Amino acid sequence: MRVLGIETSCDETAVAVVEDGNIVLSNLISSQTDLHARFGGVVPEIASRAHVEALNPLMQGALEQAGVGFRDLDAVAVTVGPGLVGALLVGIAGAKAVALATRAGFIGVNHLEGHIYASFIEHGPPEPPYVCLVISGGHTMLVHMPEEHRYEVLGQTVDDAAGEAFDKIARFMGLGFPGGPALDKLAREGDPRAIAFPRAMADSGDYDFSLSGLKTAVLRYVKAERTAGRRVNPADLAASFQEAIVDVQVGKTIAAAQEKRVGTVLLGGGVVANRRLRDRMEEAGAEAGIRVLFPRLELCTDNGAMIACAGSSRLARGERTPIGIGADPGLELAS
Ligand code: KG4
Ligand code: ZN
Repeated sequence: MRVLGIETSCDETAVAVVEDGNIVLSNLISSQTDLHARFGGVVPEIASRAHVEALNPLMQGALEQAGVGFRDLDAVAVTVGPGLVGALLVGIAGAKAVALATRAGFIGVNHLEGHIYASFIEHGPPEPPYVCLVISGGHTMLVHMPEEHRYEVLGQTVDDAAGEAFDKIARFMGLGFPGGPALDKLAREGDPRAIAFPRAMADSGDYDFSLSGLKTAVLRYVKAERTAGRRVNPADLAASFQEAIVDVQVGKTIAAAQEKRVGTVLLGGGVVANRRLRDRMEEAGAEAGIRVLFPRLELCTDNGAMIACAGSSRLARGERTPIGIGADPGLELAS
């Protein structure tokens, strides 16, 4: 089964061709970050327009690289939510056009399910149940999956998403936008124990997260140091901030896996590209006897292959989406 995967929920236009669920024949991404950088965040109108310009050439490129034509596609999988409504609509319209013109199957995919299924591209689906941590620019969520495609949300952030916190602190430190990757790199030269930032909700006894207090603590610390005439070491600041986030993510994820008695943890979303998080999760998993799976780096951030992979799994179960479906900017995972 050959599936075209299309992802346009935020600021990356992404198209992939995936065979038999996890063989990636092509995976192209056109990033718009340069267009949004001077605004310090994603501007929805600019995102929609850029998707319109990028989608057709990217589809052509993905097919060419995969060595197939439109007629060789068995199905088209596309992100239908959550995300920016105008951005989602561009991908959905493109996907419908291909499906109608070629009579290929059509399947709508939840973006967060895509992030979770990205782990299966390398590892194939292990035996369920799983606990999944989805951490991206828009979400921070712990989910219990008793079986494939069934989701029970255990907890989520009550304020900022982890990626959002990374981006805000990176911006404050002058590291550009989106600053997660730059902060990750800088933190490698710093001491994670240099500054004791709060581990918000680490002991709250539930699986919710709060990240806005940490952000305020960083700003307050820097201001106080400056007022006292002391120099702040940027690498130590980055490493200590990152450690506070990672500590809570690791602690809650392992606790959830133990409570739910699952042997496999899946990590997905842009922040899973973070090296410290990957290392610490692997260590904690090994210690607890829990298998921790995460996607290779380029499949952590938004891409079309993860959408094709999640879509393929649904198609294989006989599912199809009515061609009249629209975008759902607030689509829930458990729906
Ligand atoms: O999954 P994604 O591409 O888009 C959303 O669905 O939101 O995630 C993007 C987020 C951004 O906030 C970005 O700064 C963050 O992932 N990110 C990172 C790293 N790479 C990307 N955060 C920390 N460390 C990284 N290495
Ligand atoms: Zn994403």
